[in-house]
Amino acid sequence: MSTFPVRRPRRLRQNAAMRELVAETRLHPADFILPLFIAEGIDTPREITSMPGQFQHTADSLVRIAESALQAGVRCVDLFGVPLASKKDATGSVAWDPEGILNLGIQRLRQEFGDELLIMADTCLDEFTDHGHCGVMRADGTVDNDATLPLYCDMAVSQANAGAHIISPSGMMDGQVGAIRAALDAAGHEEVAIMAYSAKYASAFFGPFREAVGSSLEGNRRTYQQDPANARESLLEVELDIQEGADFVMVKPALPYLDVLRQVADMSPLPVAAYQVSGEYAMIKAGAEKGWIDGPAVMMESLTSIKRAGADQILTYFAIDAAKALQ
Ligand code: PBG
Repeated sequence: MSTFPVRRPRRLRQNAAMRELVAETRLHPADFILPLFIAEGIDTPREITSMPGQFQHTADSLVRIAESALQAGVRCVDLFGVPLASKKDATGSVAWDPEGILNLGIQRLRQEFGDELLIMADTCLDEFTDHGHCGVMRADGTVDNDATLPLYCDMAVSQANAGAHIISPSGMMDGQVGAIRAALDAAGHEEVAIMAYSAKYASAFFGPFREAVGSSLEGNRRTYQQDPANARESLLEVELDIQEGADFVMVKPALPYLDVLRQVADMSPLPVAAYQVSGEYAMIKAGAEKGWIDGPAVMMESLTSIKRAGADQILTYFAIDAAKALQ
C-alpha cells in the first residue's frame, strides 16, 4: 500500500492535442529526399512492377514528378540513371559521358528548377557496367577498389558540371569520398556537397531496386558492402568519410538498421541521413495491397521511427505521399 497516488503516464496521452504537445519527434516535408529514376529509350513513364507507384521516367515526366515533390514541400531529389542495355560496358563509361542519361536528367532538372530543388546524383557505376558491379573488375572476378576511384571522380565531376548540388557516392569503395572531394575541388566545384553512403549493407532489401535500374548483376556485393552482422564497422566507415570530407553521412537500409542509425547519430558531427530502400517500400505496399496492414499508417510510423532513431534526412520513395499527409 503506497502512500503516493498512482503515477499516471496516460495523462499525457489523453487526447490528440496533448499527444502533439509532448511529441518528441516531428516529421516535416523538408526532411525528405525523393529517389527518382530517368530511363533512356522510353517515351512514356514505365511503372516498376515491384515498386507500385514508382516509375522509370522520361525527361518530361521527371520534371512533372519533381514539380509535384516541390509542391508537397520536398526540396531534394536523388537521381539514378537507367541507360540502354546496349550502352553498358565493362567500365560503365556512359556514367561520365555528358550526354549520358543521368547527366541529361540532372541538366534538365537544374534548368527547370535552378536552386529551388536540390539535385542529388547517385555516383556509382552499377547501373552502367555490363557486369552490374559498382566498380571495375580484375581478371580474377574481384572488384578493383583503386582502379575504380578515378572513374568515380570523372563521374562526380560530370554530374557537378551538369548541375548537381549534391554528389552521393554509393559504391562502398575505400577512399571514395576523399578522391571525389579532391576531384570536385580541382574542377572548381568546391560548393558541391557530398552525401556519403557511409554505412551501406549488402542487403536483400535492395531487391526491387535491381528491377528499377535494370541491373545486370549476377552474384552479390558482399566484398564491398557491409555484413549485416556488424554494427561497429559502421562507426569506422562514418569516421573515415568525415575525415575524407563528407558533408553528410548516411545509413542504408533504414528500418532493419535503426540500431546502427542511433549509434551513428550519437557520434556524428555531420547531418545523418537514412535511406528507406526499395524493399522496405515494396513490403509496405504489398502488405497494404493485400489488406493486411494499413499502408498510410505504416508509412508514417516507419518514417517517424527512422527520424526518432536519429535521421536528419530520410531518402524515401514515400516522400510525396508522406509530405502530403503532413499538410
Ligand atoms: C547502388 C545503389 C543501390 C541502391 C542505391 N544505390 C543498389 C545496390 O547497392 O545494390 C539501392 C536503393 C534501394 O534499394 O532503394 N548504385
